[in-house]
Amino acid sequence: MDRTVASPRRLQGSLVLPGDKSISHRAALFNAIAHGTATVRNYATGADCAATLSCLRALGVAVRRIEAGDGEGPGYAIAGGELHEPLDILSAANSGTTMRLLAGTLAGHPFLSILTGDRSLRSRPMGRVVAPLRLMGAQVQGRQGNTLAPLAIRGGGLKGIEYTMPVASAQLKSALLLAGLFAEGETVLHQPAASRDHTERMLEAMGASVRCDGLTVAVRAGQLRPVDVTVPADISSAAFWLVAAVCHPQARIRVLGVGVNPTRAGILTALRAMGARITLENQRVQGGEPVADLVAESSDLVATEVDGDLIPLLIDEVPVLALAACFARGTTTVRDASELRVKESDRLATITRELARLGADVTELPDGLVVRGTGRLAGATCRSHGDHRLAMMLGVAGLLASGQTTVQGAQVASVSYPAFWEHLASVAQGSAGAP
Ligand code: S3P
Repeated sequence: MDRTVASPRRLQGSLVLPGDKSISHRAALFNAIAHGTATVRNYATGADCAATLSCLRALGVAVRRIEAGDGEGPGYAIAGGELHEPLDILSAANSGTTMRLLAGTLAGHPFLSILTGDRSLRSRPMGRVVAPLRLMGAQVQGRQGNTLAPLAIRGGGLKGIEYTMPVASAQLKSALLLAGLFAEGETVLHQPAASRDHTERMLEAMGASVRCDGLTVAVRAGQLRPVDVTVPADISSAAFWLVAAVCHPQARIRVLGVGVNPTRAGILTALRAMGARITLENQRVQGGEPVADLVAESSDLVATEVDGDLIPLLIDEVPVLALAACFARGTTTVRDASELRVKESDRLATITRELARLGADVTELPDGLVVRGTGRLAGATCRSHGDHRLAMMLGVAGLLASGQTTVQGAQVASVSYPAFWEHLASVAQGSAGAP
């Protein structure tokens, strides 16, 4: 599907965004292995989190849709307990989180399961998860020397390990912590840098024995208590509107109830360093996660440098940050970001190629990007490469570029944000409520 976007004179509105994808996956999966029933409200609406629910159903978990009521949004009731050997292979579709977190969980279960995904997911690195799960004693096999899905897992009989993680990946950390819940002894992980800590927060709330000490996280086997979760709005979805507003000359957009966990909010740090006018209102804590309404307004942006420990804290926001850099005075550099090469697309390559079609001055580095801000883009036809975040970044680029921008493969936005194109139209027409 193609979408064509032009720049409106003004951007404004107040948006309610889908639930956080990372927190939704965890709320469903962790409650599925807890004993008892929990409700998860404002569960992420995209295809990724739907894939987690369908895998859980195939593992024998009762997942029931609950409608909105009593001031609460819609969601799911998850009846947790024992997982059962699935009758067929499990598909994680496009979702790396589903595949890696399930691999860790299934490594703790003494039955056969086979995990696959779409073409993009089948090309993403799984060896980082498979190798330590095998060290823990699970039988896990995959294509190409156990590095690629499909993965065949026969779990059980795990022993805790002490492991130094080669990458700062929350998916890897979470997979190993989940396996650690079913292992004899302690599982101790040393991270090279901090990554999102939703797993640690939620496991703690569910009564697991989790110990965090700087970059070290450890867990012991134990039974989880179910926990009701109201998922905050996804900062990775909010980032598109923040960048749209701060780059457009006449804009004010409010996004409501967004998760601002410091291990996720690197995009706020980077945009503020660029001079972005973003304010946090109604700051509160919701189910152990910090939440706020964010208001972003037209700003005079300057270039910045994004590297080192900041990268894992904004890993999914680099596409839209590169777009913001096109509208900043000076040269923005992103480094230490080679992980972007193994996301839903090789994002360093796809960002460079697609922004160049719009006239941006972007150079690809082995581990990053150099973006020289020119203050303008020119509409053109560009491609999503089957990557939801690319599609949405290009849609926002269309709100900022002269002329018309056509995004081919635009439907892939629904992997994380099915209402994205509707929301784009509403902020462009100023019909998304008072900002
Ligand atoms: C996620 C972690 C990140 C992120 C992904 C979701 C998670 O991946 O890119 O979209 O929910 O744990 P890595 O931890 O592998 O970098």
